[in-house]
Amino acid sequence: MFSIFGIMDTVDIKQFGQIVFFTGAGMSAESGVPTYRGRGGIWHRYRWEEVACQKAFDKDPLKVLEFHELRRQAVLKCKPHRGHGVLVRTEQEHPEMAIITQNIDGLHQRAGSKNVIELHGSLWRLRCPECGMKVEDKGPKYESYTCRCGAWLRPDITWFGDYLDEAVIARATETIRACDLFVSIGTSGVVWPAAGFPELARAGGAFCVEVNPEPTELSARFDLVYRGKAGEILPAVFSISAPGK
Ligand code: OAD
Repeated sequence: MFSIFGIMDTVDIKQFGQIVFFTGAGMSAESGVPTYRGRGGIWHRYRWEEVACQKAFDKDPLKVLEFHELRRQAVLKCKPHRGHGVLVRTEQEHPEMAIITQNIDGLHQRAGSKNVIELHGSLWRLRCPECGMKVEDKGPKYESYTCRCGAWLRPDITWFGDYLDEAVIARATETIRACDLFVSIGTSGVVWPAAGFPELARAGGAFCVEVNPEPTELSARFDLVYRGKAGEILPAVFSISAPGK
C-alpha cells in the first residue's frame, strides 16, 4: 500500500509491541546536516577516498581529522527537529522501542532518545588504532590528535572499507528480527548491511513503513510508504499522547 502525505491514515503505535525506527541522513536533513548522496550531499563535495577511509588516514591523518572537525562544527550549529521529538516521546510510551541509526551526528541522543544503536559509530568519539583506547570528545575541535601511546587517534566511525562492529550488527539484527513495526526514515538504502534490514524485518513478520520524500531502492519492500519529510510526516502520522501524558 502506498500513501501520499495529506491523505493517509495515522499509525497507531499502541497496536505494536516492539518498534524499531531505522534512520539515515535524511532524518537529520531538516536540522541542517547535509545528506551524503542527495543535492548538496557530502560525497558530491568531498571525495571519500581522501577523507573517509583508512588509506586516506594513513596517508594524511591531519587532513582527515580536520575534515571531521569541520563536520563537528557544522553539526554543533544544528538542532534536533520535531521528528526527533516524536521518537523521544514514542520511547517514553514504549520504553522497549529502539532507534537504529546510520547517522554519526548524535542528534537522536541530543533530542533525548536513550536506546540508540549507532551502526556507523559516532562523530563524538575517537579511538586509537594501536592500543584500542576509546575517548569521548564533544567539542568543535578535537582535544588531542594523538593517543597517550603516541599513535594518531582516528574518529570512531565506520569509514568506507571498514568492517562494522560485529557486536553492534548482532544487536541491531536481533532487535529488527524481534520487531512488529519497522519504520525506515531518510535512508537511500544503498549501504550494506543496512540495505538488508527491511527484508529482515519483513521476514520476522513486522509491518514495514518508509518515510522519504524520494523513491528509494528499497521502497517496493515496504507495506506503507509516506512520501515526505521526516519533520512533517512523523508528527502527522505517529499517533502518540501529548508530552507528559
Ligand atoms: P543518503 O545521503 O544516501 O540518503 C539520504 C536519504 O534521505 C535520501 O533517500 C533522501 O531522499 C532522504 N531525505 C532527504 N531529505 C529528507 C527528509 N527531510 N526527510 C526524510 N528523508 C529525507 O544517506 P544514508 O542512506 O544515510 O556511511 O547513507 C548511508 C551511509 O552512506 C551513511 O551512513 C554514510 C554514507 O556513506 C558512512 O559514512 C560509512
